[in-house]
Amino acid sequence: MASENVLIGVIGGSGLYHLDNLTTIKTVNPETPWGYPSSPITICALPSGTRVAFVARHGKHHNISPSAVPSRANVAALKHLGVRAILAFSAVGSLREEIVPGHFALPTQIIDRTKGVRPASFFEGTSIVAHAAFGEPFSMRLVRWLEGAVARALGEEGRGVVLHRDKCIVCMEGPQFSTRAESVMYRAWGGDLINMSVLPEAKLAREAELGCVASFFLILETKLKFPRCDRYALIATATDYDSWRPHSEVVTASQVMQTLQANANTSRHVAAAILEDLHITAQGDLLSEERGSMAFSIMPKSA
Ligand code: ADE
Repeated sequence: MASENVLIGVIGGSGLYHLDNLTTIKTVNPETPWGYPSSPITICALPSGTRVAFVARHGKHHNISPSAVPSRANVAALKHLGVRAILAFSAVGSLREEIVPGHFALPTQIIDRTKGVRPASFFEGTSIVAHAAFGEPFSMRLVRWLEGAVARALGEEGRGVVLHRDKCIVCMEGPQFSTRAESVMYRAWGGDLINMSVLPEAKLAREAELGCVASFFLILETKLKFPRCDRYALIATATDYDSWRPHSEVVTASQVMQTLQANANTSRHVAAAILEDLHITAQGDLLSEERGSMAFSIMPKSA
């Protein structure tokens, strides 16, 4: 039976500014304590009537650079709508020969090269000291579920798009691409993929876990209500080989653009193929993993 609840939020990256096969129910633009989301959020219905929320990370017209994405507003607004799992898409560079532009990947680890530049916590500017567990930066049950579902959807697509699993993504500040030396260094560090967007999104999704965020928001006396937990996983779509290959050109925006459209079409196909099942699965215990985790992340105030 179709559900009116919006359990799944989709964040679209470069090239992915809308989803396919969906009926728009309404567009909302909630103001959060961190401002407005990147774009008004579209609430759409799958053919069965099941609802999902979609936000374009860089704005509908790609007018927000990675460093300026209002990630706190995006995550808070999705949470406000009742979303329990965020499925994020992002164009990425490949740091490995076998991850060919046009391939997809589900990363399980992140190396942070954005540190200090972007607001990365809901607790910034408050008197609460909280240290969210982030050793596993993605929701592993969700990732494992997606590995099967996305691989099946890519198989149906029949385009030879390979899905890579258990990869490590480097998140860099940008907006310029890396130097050759940095690109080689990221490979030596164990990076497989590189983008400018997975952080602070993944950190904020982790912090948005119910118990603590609910009390945090009460402390701020905001009128927003945060009914449930968020889970986060990223579908990384490779557009280029970055700049580590000694005999190849370094990455340029026009190189990225060449693969972007095809990747966006495949992403829309994948989303259309998996969202209904994800919604159904999200009603079970798939998303119970981190529930309550933030309760143990707040440092007690000393007397
Ligand atoms: N997004 C797509 N390709 C990228 C690259 N090579 N580096 C950083 N972000 C990217």
